[in-house]
Amino acid sequence: MADLDALFDAARTAMTRAHSPYSKFPVGAAILTEDGRIFAGANIEVMSFPEGWCAETTALSHYVMAGGGRITDICVTAEKLDECTPCGGCRQRLAEFAPPDARVHLTDANSITRTITVAELLPLGFATEVLTR
Ligand code: THU
Repeated sequence: MADLDALFDAARTAMTRAHSPYSKFPVGAAILTEDGRIFAGANIEVMSFPEGWCAETTALSHYVMAGGGRITDICVTAEKLDECTPCGGCRQRLAEFAPPDARVHLTDANSITRTITVAELLPLGFATEVLTR
């Protein structure tokens, strides 16, 4: 599918822009919305280690600043790991903006190798109407 090829390419390209001098573990993520827009990001580390953030978070920030939209697909890729799964914090962040049936694509260096949903990525995730009513 052309959109998924573009999403994979966007995640791999974003990964090349990672700022990961401490972990030396570049990660790329890309978000596809139903209207065909793609928002990509890489992990950005800082010398005070806990202050760095993940590729998924960078991609989400681009998505939010562009005005959002319905997320259909997310792709996460890492140079040094086949099937780099999002960390716990990013699972919560992704679930904040992506519907439960949005697809999450994991990759090796060449292509998407596994596809799951946001609901599968974060079972029993924290969600409550109490905070939003
Ligand atoms: N990292 C991500 O960017 N996304 C993930 O889902 C897992 C981890 C980054 C954070 C840090 O810069 C590096 O990978 C090593 O943990």
